[in-house]
Amino acid sequence: TQPVVAIVGATGAVGTTFLELFEERSFQFKELHLVASPRSAGKTIQFRGKSYEIKNLETFDFTGIDIAFFSAGTSISKKSARRAAQQGALVIDNTNAFRMDADTPLVVPQVNRHQLQNWPTSGIYANPNCATIPVVRALKPLDPVFGVKKVIISTYQAASGQGLTGIEELREGTRQLIADEKSVVKAERFQVPLAFNLVPNIDAMQETGFTLEEQKMIQESRKIMERPDLYVSSTAVRVPVINCHSEAVYFECERPLELERMLELLRGGEELQVYYGPGAENYPTPRTVRNQNDVHVGRIRVDATNKNAGWLWIVSDNLRVGAALNALQIAEEVIANGLLARKPLAA
Ligand code: A2P
Repeated sequence: TQPVVAIVGATGAVGTTFLELFEERSFQFKELHLVASPRSAGKTIQFRGKSYEIKNLETFDFTGIDIAFFSAGTSISKKSARRAAQQGALVIDNTNAFRMDADTPLVVPQVNRHQLQNWPTSGIYANPNCATIPVVRALKPLDPVFGVKKVIISTYQAASGQGLTGIEELREGTRQLIADEKSVVKAERFQVPLAFNLVPNIDAMQETGFTLEEQKMIQESRKIMERPDLYVSSTAVRVPVINCHSEAVYFECERPLELERMLELLRGGEELQVYYGPGAENYPTPRTVRNQNDVHVGRIRVDATNKNAGWLWIVSDNLRVGAALNALQIAEEVIANGLLARKPLAA
């Protein structure tokens, strides 16, 4: 039987990506409910030749919903996702609201799909941060062979991570600066104007001196890889790219790395694309990745002075791989596992 599905944040950058992916992957549902803020309630969205009226989250009843995707921001999820779970929906949450909660599995199917066998205690599956997912997916085939013990990540993150308004702010700022280099450009979605710039400050600065985005990558990688001891550190930077996050990843292992073996392992990885060759064949870039649903890995190197260390350059679509696709893949596996038929009575 097909599920009754709700998308909360359906009008946003991730929400609209869900609809694209439903179409591409022929995702089947019995009913679809599109939910957003009171600002959008009553408007309509066309999908598969049908007109859907957008519903107001405040008054939306999740009774009878099998799967509810939440992508409307952390504060919205904190306010409404537990209510949705209590009303019986299996929630797949794209925000930072529950990721580190002990009763909530944090899942990247290609890395820890064994978490998808049982109904989560909270009724919520958390989808990791968009910069965490590609790193754990690229390290997954390497770890059993080389024993990853330390990971240092520098990110180059696209404007779409701040949603449609983030993309618009970058576009508008770029247009203004091309027209007049001295024009004053607004910075509402980013701390300083992003156009022709870099901003080493994603999400709130913490007392530790790290940003919340950096902290998320550190703690989430440990939880997903089930390695509380794993040393992870990071610097997260917003760059003037519309979509697709890039990351330079340095990692140290228990055992010496061999380039040929690394290439072989990565090529055998699940939904990974490996770049190795002369010139531009050696790396993916945000504008040239071919399959937007894969994680792209290039600049694959063994460190020149430390044979136990290597480098990767990773590019992945943050709206797809980093958000909607990961959430949909969780849903697809949950459905295939027959989990929806095993909903606990209390839910
Ligand atoms: P709306 O379009 O009605 O504001 P993005 O990440 O692209 O900025 O999109 C954010 C998504 O979250 C949009 O779908 C937006 O809906 C939704 N959203 C924002 N605030 C709320 C709210 N208070 N209740 C429900 N949905 C919200």
